[in-house]
Amino acid sequence: MLREDINHLSRYVEPDRVRREVYTDPGIFELEMQRIHEKVWIYCGHESQVPKAGDYYTVQIGRQPMLMVRGSDGGISVLYNRCPHRGNMMCGDRSGNAGEFFRCSYHAWTFKHDGRLRSIPMGDAAYAGTRYAKGNPDCDMKRAARVENYRGFVFASLSSSGPSLKEFLGEGIVAFDDMCDRAPAGEVEVVPNCFRVIQHSNWKLFMENQIDALHPSVTHQSTGIAAGRVERRLKEQQGSVPLYYHYLSAFASSFEQWDSVQTINYPQGHGILKAYMGLRPQDKDTLEHEALLKQAYGEQKAEEYLSRSIHHVLVYPYLSVQSPLQQLRCLRPISPDKTLSEIWHFRLKGAPEAIYRRSLWYYNLVNSPATMINADDLENWTKGQWGLQSDGGDWVSFHRDHGGDRVENGVAYSNHGTSEVVMRSQFAAWSRYMQEGA
Ligand code: FES
Ligand SMILES: [Fe+2]
Repeated sequence: MLREDINHLSRYVEPDRVRREVYTDPGIFELEMQRIHEKVWIYCGHESQVPKAGDYYTVQIGRQPMLMVRGSDGGISVLYNRCPHRGNMMCGDRSGNAGEFFRCSYHAWTFKHDGRLRSIPMGDAAYAGTRYAKGNPDCDMKRAARVENYRGFVFASLSSSGPSLKEFLGEGIVAFDDMCDRAPAGEVEVVPNCFRVIQHSNWKLFMENQIDALHPSVTHQSTGIAAGRVERRLKEQQGSVPLYYHYLSAFASSFEQWDSVQTINYPQGHGILKAYMGLRPQDKDTLEHEALLKQAYGEQKAEEYLSRSIHHVLVYPYLSVQSPLQQLRCLRPISPDKTLSEIWHFRLKGAPEAIYRRSLWYYNLVNSPATMINADDLENWTKGQWGLQSDGGDWVSFHRDHGGDRVENGVAYSNHGTSEVVMRSQFAAWSRYMQEGA
């Protein structure tokens, strides 16, 4: 695509369809990184990933290598992972402990945990009278423009202006509230290590898919049917079946069942798919968990928390959270046809071990790279990218139920889970970001 054409992005997105280049064009991808991913609030990690002073965890924000680090005062900073001397990457490992300060492996400049320069070998003499004399902030490691922590989830924005974290998250904030409120202690902790998967497809294909309720009964049909068969047989033989069979069998629900689920689509591109497969079973583990929540919050609050109807919350443009099962997937786009996804899950502080096992089952059975469910999706996204790179057509269709949504204050409500309002709403947000950044 010619550079000058990129400025006419309105040609690429119409209310009910988009041009294929938005998934394939390197120029558009670069603009997305500048105008979206390097501007909005990006999830860096959970504070429990860096419990001790000097602990750091590296993270990609847009095209920028960053690191999240715990200071000796307990605060968390997010810094560019780059030495201000000659540009070396400061931390080559994914995570670790920097000790009392960062020390560059090239010429031993050292930095405090908040990025401020601490020392340069024989620096006073060598730099006296130069522009890099003591006190010049160019000698510090550069910090992310803004950092905020919401209930333990740490976000950074590389832009000094723009909405606050709470404004950015909007109604999507329920993802974090729902997760934390399910913990009797009111907070979660990360289970160390995540799965990392490189998807050979554009980041937007993943975001569209997450609350696309038409695809599960097709894409995951074989898995769902096979699991359903075993589930029924066990039920006949033993009378009861472990809950996790249902995690898989539910995928093979009929089109009509999936269509009966509601979606809410927000102007920021965020979305909620309501309902949930077996949210409140009445087994002994769930009842024990509910009793602890009632003890912690009182009957009324606990009931309010437990009756939230959420299957999935999307925080556009990069997060997919299944809060009732403490699952979080985070995208780190690499190129138009390559996207890294981090797949995390969390432990509810103060909840019974069995509730954690439930989350682990879901993590392993549905979201991990080893499952059939994730593999089904990965195949679709790769094939999606291949198809979009072909000359077999210029447009991608989002016409399903177009015109049939109820829109109030910019929020589109659909009573059809299979409606493509999800994608239309995401692209409306995409266009706004891209135009505002122009
Ligand atoms: S590049 Fe870091 S000290 Fe020289
Ligand atoms: Fe899927």
